[in-house]
Amino acid sequence: MISIQNVSKTFGRVQAVRDVTLDIARGEFFSLLGASGSGKTTLLRMLAGFEGVTSGKIVIDGQPMQDTPPHLRPINMVFQNYAIFPHLNVRDNIAYGLRRLGTPKAEQARMVDAMLEMIALPGYGDRLATQLSGGQMQRVALARALILKPKVLLLDEPLGALDKQLREQMQLELRSLQRQLGITFVLVTHDQEEALTLSDRVAVMSNGQVIQVDTPSGLYDRPVNRQVAAFVGTMNFFDARIRAQGPDTSAEIAGLGRHPVAPSARRDGDRVLVAIRPEGFALSPQPPEGPGPRVAGRLMARQYLGGRQLLHVAVEGRAAPVAVAAVAHRGQDPWEGMEDNPVWLGWSRDAMTVLDAD
Ligand SMILES: Nc1ncnc2c1ncn2[C@@H]1O[C@H](COP(=O)(O)OP(=O)(O)OP(=O)(O)O)[C@@H](O)[C@H]1O
Ligand SMILES: [Mg+2]
Repeated sequence: MISIQNVSKTFGRVQAVRDVTLDIARGEFFSLLGASGSGKTTLLRMLAGFEGVTSGKIVIDGQPMQDTPPHLRPINMVFQNYAIFPHLNVRDNIAYGLRRLGTPKAEQARMVDAMLEMIALPGYGDRLATQLSGGQMQRVALARALILKPKVLLLDEPLGALDKQLREQMQLELRSLQRQLGITFVLVTHDQEEALTLSDRVAVMSNGQVIQVDTPSGLYDRPVNRQVAAFVGTMNFFDARIRAQGPDTSAEIAGLGRHPVAPSARRDGDRVLVAIRPEGFALSPQPPEGPGPRVAGRLMARQYLGGRQLLHVAVEGRAAPVAVAAVAHRGQDPWEGMEDNPVWLGWSRDAMTVLDAD
């Protein structure tokens, strides 16, 4: 549906987007995830045509876009600050684009009713836009964009201004609307949880570049570098050195000892980082059974997170404690009052991701 080919954008001396190449499929829910200033909005505005490309090419639905102005692109955009008209009621806000297209009145009314139903605001048509809550306004903004049946909907932090509860509710609604309509969504967010929950695929941006494009679980399980690994979820990083002898590759890992890892192009003596998620470890009061790697440590602190907890375990040869995830059972938490006691960390080879040292 969207093909972004070697696209760059410079503003004076600022290189906002650097050589981005991406393909987004028809009907895909695609997110651009990155820290503030990483170039997400700039890329979105180039897709919409509000900003020209400095170099490279954008093709949408088979059509090169360089000479196509925003209003002729098969695209609509929803902005962070709900851009609805305060002097119009809900119905007229939603119908705004249809009126400009000259859609017959009766047809407009039918389509607006269907939209009000879809955004779960039936009966709100005659309210003034200013008499709505933030979340309701944002749904009206969505309806106004969706009623024109764009092939692509661009959303720039559309839920950024909402409180956590409403944001989560709107996330579910967005996803189900998108499934229902089959429209291609491109969402900009700096909220990793939002990107992971909603998207079919996510592009992680940093400094104007796309550093990884993957499914949510791909990003979480196979981050390409420390930056992505640290940005998505919690991660333990261990300094390590590769030990390669014949067909056997292992890593000498600070605090964990020497363990076999998947063979790679890395050579004997190379410095690397071994990354293990908190849930990649199993904690036990006794040495774990079975052949997997294990190491002794001491339980330093517990961090209760509601239903689950992070246990911080000190191991010899590593300054920072290792974060281990565990379920926090109601009233029968095996780790309660266990601070300062010896514990064992077990993990499997699959839990280890070997990354380049930075
Ligand atoms: N019109 C402009 N003129 C000059 N520099 C700009 C302009 N628009 C954006 N930039 C710069 O380009 C870079 C990328 O900005 P952009 O708005 O795309 O970031 P973003 O990822 O959307 O950030 P945020 O999460 O804060 O919205 C920033 O360094 C920004 O200062
Ligand atoms: Mg932005």
